Amino acid sequence: MKIKSATFLVSNVDYKSCPTLNEAEFAFIGRSNVGKSSLINMLMGIPKLAKTSSTPGKTQLINHFTVNEQWYLVDLPGYGYAKVSKHKRNKWQSVISDYLLKRPNLTAVFVLLDARLAPQPIDVEFMNWCGEKAIPFVMVFTKIDKLSSTQLQKNQAIYRKEMLAYWEELPPVFLTSATSSVGKEAVLDYIEKILLQIKA
Ligand code: GTP
Ligand code: MG
Repeated sequence: MKIKSATFLVSNVDYKSCPTLNEAEFAFIGRSNVGKSSLINMLMGIPKLAKTSSTPGKTQLINHFTVNEQWYLVDLPGYGYAKVSKHKRNKWQSVISDYLLKRPNLTAVFVLLDARLAPQPIDVEFMNWCGEKAIPFVMVFTKIDKLSSTQLQKNQAIYRKEMLAYWEELPPVFLTSATSSVGKEAVLDYIEKILLQIKA
C-alpha cells in the first residue's frame, strides 16, 4: 500500500473521549520504548509524525492519525514501564485495556516486541489476554538492525517455542527496523489486505 497522506488527528486521555470513527483503525502497542512511535513514523514515511524519545514513557495519550483519508492508526502509551509510579502505571493499564475492549472500529492490534530480548512475561501475558478477549493481534518484532541475523533467528525460534506453549498456531509475525525501514512493505500490505477484506 502506498501512503499518500498521514496526518495527526487527535490525542485523548481515554477511549471515552476518542472520536466516533466509522473506518477501520489499527493500534500499535507494546512496552515503553519498544519503538511504537518510531515504527509508525517509518511506516508513514514521516519522521516526526509521532513523538519518539529515548526516555521510556513518552507517549502518554491515545493518539489517532488519519491515513490516506481512509483508515486510522493509533499510537498508544507503552505498558509495563517500571520507573513510573505505580498509580500512573495502573492508570495506563486501564486506559489501554478499556481502549482495546471498547473501541468498536478497532480492527487489529500490532503488538511490538523487542527482537533483541527473550520473551518477556508481560508481553506474553498481554498477547494471551488479547486471545482471551478475542482481540485480533499480530506480532511485530522491532529494532532488528540491532542484532545479527544469526541472533535474530535464534531469538525468533525461542519466541515461537514460548508462544506455542499457549497457542496452537502463531499469529502473523513481522520483522521490522525503524532505522532501515525493513518490514515496511510487509506491514502496509497486511493492513491493505485487511482493509480489502472488510470492504469485500
Ligand atoms: P513510549 O512512547 O515511551 O512508550 O516508547 P515507544 O514505544 O513509542 O518508542 P519510541 O518510538 O519512542 O522509540 C524508543 C527509542 O528506541 C528511541 O530512542 C528510538 O530512536 C529507538 N528505536 C525505535 N525503533 C528503533 C529501531 O528500529 N532501530 C533502532 N536502532 N532504534 C530504534
Ligand atoms: Mg511512543
